[in-house]
Order: sequence, then C-alpha cells, then structure tokens
Amino acid sequence: MEQTETSVGKTYAYEIKGGVPLKGNIDISGSKNAALGVIAASIMVDGVCTLENVPDILDVHVMFDLLRSLGATVDAIDNHTYKIDPTTINTYKASGPLVSRIRASYYLMGALLGRCGKASIRLPGGCNFGQRPIDLHLKAFQLMGAKGARPSDINSGIVNLEADPLHGARIYLDIVSVGATINAMLAACKAQGQTEIINAAKEPHIVDVANFLNSMGARIKGAGTDIIKITGVPVLPGNFTYSIIPDQIEAGTYMIAAAVTDGDVTIHNLIPTHMEPLSAKMREMGYIIEEGDESIRVYRPDNSEEVYPTSVKTSPYPGFPTDLQPQTVVLLCSADGQSRMHENVWQNRFQYVPELAKMGANINVYERIAWVNGKTSFRGATVEATDLRAGAALVCAALEASGTTYIMNAQRIDRGYEHIVQKLTDLGATICRVNHTPEYGEEDTEA
Ligand code: UD1
Repeated sequence: MEQTETSVGKTYAYEIKGGVPLKGNIDISGSKNAALGVIAASIMVDGVCTLENVPDILDVHVMFDLLRSLGATVDAIDNHTYKIDPTTINTYKASGPLVSRIRASYYLMGALLGRCGKASIRLPGGCNFGQRPIDLHLKAFQLMGAKGARPSDINSGIVNLEADPLHGARIYLDIVSVGATINAMLAACKAQGQTEIINAAKEPHIVDVANFLNSMGARIKGAGTDIIKITGVPVLPGNFTYSIIPDQIEAGTYMIAAAVTDGDVTIHNLIPTHMEPLSAKMREMGYIIEEGDESIRVYRPDNSEEVYPTSVKTSPYPGFPTDLQPQTVVLLCSADGQSRMHENVWQNRFQYVPELAKMGANINVYERIAWVNGKTSFRGATVEATDLRAGAALVCAALEASGTTYIMNAQRIDRGYEHIVQKLTDLGATICRVNHTPEYGEEDTEA
C-alpha cells in the first residue's frame, strides 16, 4: 500500500502518463473536512475518544500534531483509527508555524474557548483563493461573551480570546460560513445556556461534527438545517468511538476522473445524496450515474455520443460544492460546446486556469465566471498545483491528456487525497511521485 507523505515541508511532483480510460472499483476515504472538525472538537471531551475512518492525509497529521502541541495524547491504533486523550492538555495557546499550515486550525479557537475559557491562536493558513476573513467566527465568540474578539484586537497575527464565562447567544451569520458555523457550535457546547445559530451552513461535515459532539454528550439540534440550537452542558463525558463520514469531494473528484477519461468506475463507500449536485450535472452532460446504497458507477453508454455543455454555479450545500469547481471545469472542457462555471463562494478561485491552458484548455475568465470552450483534447505539460483542488483538477486533465504531464508541488494534492497514487494506479492510470524539475527548486510552500 502506498505510504502517505506526511513530513511537513517536503515538496515533489506527480508524473502522469495520460490517455488511459480508468476502469474498476475504488473506495472513498473518510472526509478531510469532517475529520479536521471532529479532531478539533475532540479536545473538548472530558474523557478519551476513539475516531475511526480517519483519512491518512497530510492535513489530518498536521491537526494531530497541533493537538499534541497542546499536550493531548494521540495514539494511532492503525492508519485510520486514533485514540485521543485531551485530558492531558496543558495550554490554551497554539501560535506555532503548524497553525498557519492548515485552514482548519481555526477550529481550535472555538474548541479551546469551550475547554479552557481562553484561546490564543495564530491566524490560520490554507489554500489561497481570495480573502478568507474570520470576522464571522469572531463575531460569534463576541456574542458569547468572549473578549479579544474584535478584529482590531488581533495582535501580530495572534487572536487572544477570553471569556468568563462563555454564555449562550443568538448568532445570525450574514454569510453562510462553514467555519463560523462549526466554531460557534464548538464554543456553544459547554457555554452556559442556549445558543442559536441562524443562517447556519448545512454541509455534511457540519452534521458530522454535531453527531460526534452529541455522541460525546453535547446537546445540539438542527445541524444540517438553517438553524442550529445548542444547549450548553458542563461536561462532555466521551469514552465513545465515532466513525468519520466519507469524503464528498474525494468521491466527486474520482467521478470526474472516470468521466473525463471515458472510463467505467464504481466508487464505493460514499453517500449518494451528498453527490447529488454533481450527479445531476453529469447526467445533464450525458454520463450515466448509477447509484447503489453506498456506491456510484460512472460511465457513458456509447463513447462516440456527444457530451453536452452545461452551466454550473457554486453555492453552499446543498448547492454545487466550490471544492469541486476546478475539477468540474476540466469535465466541462470535455463537452462539445461552451459551458459556464460561476464561482459564487470564493473571490478568486480560477488561479489554475492558466495551468490548464498550458495543457490545451480554452477558458476565458471574467470576474467570477469562467466560459469553458470544449472540446479540449488535453496534452501533457509541466504545470503547477496552485492549491489542493486546483491540483486535483490538473490530475483529472493529465489522466485524459496525450503524453506526459508533470504536476509540480503535488504535495498540495496529498493534503486532501488519501493514497491517490495507489488508488489511480489500481484503476489503470500511470502515475508516480518524482522530484521537482530543477527550475522549480525545493522551496517550501504554504499548505
Ligand atoms: C470551508 C472548507 C473549504 C470550502 C469552504 C466552502 C474546511 C477546512 N474548508 O472553508 O474547503 O471551500 O468551506 O465550502 O472545511 N466568510 C466571511 N467571513 C468569515 C468567514 C467566511 O466573509 O468570517 C466568507 C468567505 O470569504 C467565503 C464564504 O464566507 O466567501 C464561505 O467561507 P466558509 O464557508 O467560511 O469557508 P471555510 O470554512 O474557510
């Protein structure tokens, strides 16, 4: 089995020889974004908890290292099962460089506030696709009685929060935010009284974090709807085993990889309803999406048939996921005609388009809309994974391309895709990790 590259700061490329239709079966791993939220939430537990179906990916290992840096004990039972004992936590400060390696480190604000009544955290890192403010997170903490939560209180990139005590509040989010919803939910679990989060995000991983917390003893109702109500409890007893949901974005990426290569792949261990926004669009384009209880098969009945162009707009769940936007643009490149992709969540998420153009894509970006002109036959090139999902899009294009593609800074892709090289190899792809070409050097990159 492929080993995940877990050492922070290591850089490398993928070499992909394309043109082979992917065929066979594949298993989806645990959800990256759910795991990151649940691992952060685990520090609020007053006992031990065991997590199953944890994806073996870089971001998760960074999050475990962050927990260890707080004093928590994290033991691997196997590659996907971890026992976490947060009772040994001895600090409320997380300001080292690990914090800025992942976006989800911001969940430590809500979790430490809930656990210690204090949190001192460096601003988070993560993929760069425009401004990524945390004003809504801070507003929620402020409403719950935390001092230090005004944007002007941020000192040299460190947020210092303190509440004495944290109390329930009515929190209206004027933008639907995944991170702010989870952070407010975390802080509210042990706050005094009731909290109501209005206009909450509804992503599957929000429901997963709420289910995890409830299984530890929290009282959260309404996760997955617009209004989440949390009644604070003094103790979260824990001593429970919880299994992380499958990764919606990993599953979608393999659905697209199967489609662009004109393959026939059955993807197992997913939740078909989570895939509906993508499945609906793929059916519109002419692909067959066959759903089982926990699987989806993707193929085209007759590969000589036209692939229809379509129009896609990203929006919060159950809308079309922005984290599948770059991969979907690659799919739209395979359509016979012009398609439209409207990025409605992030300000600047088309940074990968010039990289795709090097492989032959014909895409015109105007502000938040990409006009995608099919039908592209991709050709191998040397390109750069500008961020995690951009990198996944380049992998999809490279699998279809004639010739060999080198994707630089592929470690950014390993942040979110467990054993991707092995999984694609099992489906018939020719892909391996190689050193960067010399002109890219070995500089460290932001995760
Ligand atoms: C999470 C996901 C990320 C995904 C995104 C949207 C994790 C670790 N990351 O990011 O992969 O692309 O959801 O599905 O789960 N906003 C504000 N103020 C805030 C917070 C957000 O204006 O305080 C805005 C953002 O700029 C953005 C929008 O709200 O335009 C959505 O962001 P949000 O849902 O918070 O994304 P993240 O939680 O950072």
